[in-house]
Amino acid sequence: MKFRKPTSADLPLLSLWNHHLIRDERHRNRMAPSQLKRRMAGWLKKRQYSGLIFEVGPAPVGYVLYRKEKDHIYLRQFFIDRKYRRKGLGQEAMKHLLRKIWPKDFQIRLDVLVDNRRARAFWHSLGFRDYCLGMEKR
Ligand SMILES: CC(C)(COP(=O)(O)OP(=O)(O)OC[C@H]1O[C@@H](n2cnc3c(N)ncnc32)[C@H](O)[C@@H]1OP(=O)(O)O)[C@@H](O)C(=O)NCCC(=O)NCCS
Repeated sequence: MKFRKPTSADLPLLSLWNHHLIRDERHRNRMAPSQLKRRMAGWLKKRQYSGLIFEVGPAPVGYVLYRKEKDHIYLRQFFIDRKYRRKGLGQEAMKHLLRKIWPKDFQIRLDVLVDNRRARAFWHSLGFRDYCLGMEKR
């Protein structure tokens, strides 16, 4: 697996993946792909988040979007393309990020929707533990 920084040429793919991510995790966000594309372009241009695309051979298989804070990494988006799932690629990508990209003494923080069981199982498989449960009344 290889890792590369996204360029403006990747924005259509990243916004499509962002759209799939929102659908797959059953998030309430209803932004259209064109809006997601503008948001993604702004985040990367203003360096509000760093992005990396994962590739296997010539194929892009997923991406991460994160922000380095003072003492931790905030992981905003992590996604493996639907057709490449359950092949260990998500684990491989995360292990590389943890070992080679992010400072070893940094905590990694992320939010997972309670109903996103697949993602919860995934993070648990990497040693992440549940910490905070968000509450709401609708
Ligand atoms: C969550 C996600 C990143 C997992 O990526 P992946 O490459 O399919 O995961 P891996 O193949 O590396 O799986 C590693 C382990 O995670 C767990 N896991 C992954 N997918 C699972 C599923 N559908 N059901 C149960 N456990 C699962 C298993 O323990 C698995 O190990 P195993 O296959 O040996 O049982 C991917 O499904 C995805 O992009 N989902 C949509 C976006 C999303 O929810 N992102 C996370 C937001 S917080």
